[in-house]
Amino acid sequence: MVHTLERAPETGFADLVIGVNYGDEGKGNTVDRLLRSGEYSVAARFNGGANAGHQLFFKGQEIALHQVPSGIAHDNILNVIGNGSYVDPEELVKEIAEIVDLGLSVSPNNLLISDTAHLVLPHQKTEDRLREVGRTKQGSTAKGIAFVGGDKYRREGARPELFEYDIDKLHQLVIDGLTRTNLLLREAKLTEEQMTKHDLHPVNPKERFEAWLATARAIQPHFTDTFPIVHEYLDSGRNILAEGAQATGLDIEHGIYPLNTSSHATPGGAMNGLGIAHHHIRHVFGVSKLTMSRVGGESGPFVTRVSSQLIAKKLRGNKEDVDGEYGKSTGRERDMGYPDNTLIKRAKRLGVTQLVLTKLDLVPRFGKKVKVAIAYEFEGQRLEVAPNSASKLAACRAIYETFPTWQEDISQIRDYAELPVEARNLVEFIEQDTELPVVGIGVGPDREQVIFKRSATGAEQSPKLKHPLAV
Ligand code: IMP
Repeated sequence: MVHTLERAPETGFADLVIGVNYGDEGKGNTVDRLLRSGEYSVAARFNGGANAGHQLFFKGQEIALHQVPSGIAHDNILNVIGNGSYVDPEELVKEIAEIVDLGLSVSPNNLLISDTAHLVLPHQKTEDRLREVGRTKQGSTAKGIAFVGGDKYRREGARPELFEYDIDKLHQLVIDGLTRTNLLLREAKLTEEQMTKHDLHPVNPKERFEAWLATARAIQPHFTDTFPIVHEYLDSGRNILAEGAQATGLDIEHGIYPLNTSSHATPGGAMNGLGIAHHHIRHVFGVSKLTMSRVGGESGPFVTRVSSQLIAKKLRGNKEDVDGEYGKSTGRERDMGYPDNTLIKRAKRLGVTQLVLTKLDLVPRFGKKVKVAIAYEFEGQRLEVAPNSASKLAACRAIYETFPTWQEDISQIRDYAELPVEARNLVEFIEQDTELPVVGIGVGPDREQVIFKRSATGAEQSPKLKHPLAV
């Protein structure tokens, strides 16, 4: 048999949705629109865990998804949490209960979790919370992600397969872990107030394990080897939509190390974290927000950070706004920035094939002018692509192009040609500078507030072209 890098035409494909900034780009809307096309049989997550926050609307009600793929709000979709993910049973049980309360069904018929993903254990969450109160604080979401990632790469992690094959080992890992964190907590000499505020009281390891196990058992029927299932779907011509959590700027390899997250948020991560090959991939939608934001990095570098508090406040909006810039998993205020093409250019080199720009409607909040970073200056050199290092980013200065903004409310516009010329110039500049076609443009938080600029293959949009986002 001849093996080629081309996908056999009778097999299914995978489309990916990847964040290209520092997370919170509004990927959920694109994922939701794509799922409504009916083209996909599987919605998959391949990285991250409870640190992610995806907002969805089902029959007018908001659903905050953290670990469950967005396909849960759609009929006839199998949702898969792939092996590259970090699964927190306690958070997942709560999330499933909330989804069920909204009238949706969740069972092993529509949600499968890889038994070789990594489990987030109680002591890993404690260690993350403890680090966040100390000197080495990183601004994490305190969901244990860095610690489960650390144990994974030390090959001391726990995978759901242990429920079936080695429950004693799972028991030992949790007891040993909690015994260690109890010692750390005692040594940390925290005040009673700190312990209460951050849930940092030492615990009885045995009791904590038993409570954790009882909760985790509730999701055990969802654990299975998802690899052959994913391939069965592909081999029988059914397609997958893989939704990235976090983003290129937070990827463990390509992000702002060490202030990034501990999983692979890029197209390579989708292949590894789901177990699919590059030839299965059709489109890679990169979602980029025009009013850039970053959460948890307040004291760290953010090259295009908006220095005016007044403008940042305007860009952020209110906490109650659907599109307010506050962390979905933590409620923290997000830091705001100007659009940054250097991050998009990195994402392009990693496989993004087309762009969805979000929040074009909010660009006038920058004022009469908006700046777009087209390159960085670093130690006297010009960099076209953002470096993957917090130390280097701290020494970078953005090189900007400046564009006039507009006054009109564009949130009701659906035809690209009707946008003010300044808005079109901005979008077209991003296309030229990044050499990526812009297929969709978000002009409001509602999933209907999208303008389709081009087909997925890059051709200018015309009513005759079927657009993957236009459903
Ligand atoms: P961790 O993933 O909780 O360890 O957090 C590491 C960094 O990634 C922190 O700066 C977090 O604020 C950021 N982060 C993690 N997940 C997300 C996300 O889904 N959106 C935005 N930032 C995130």
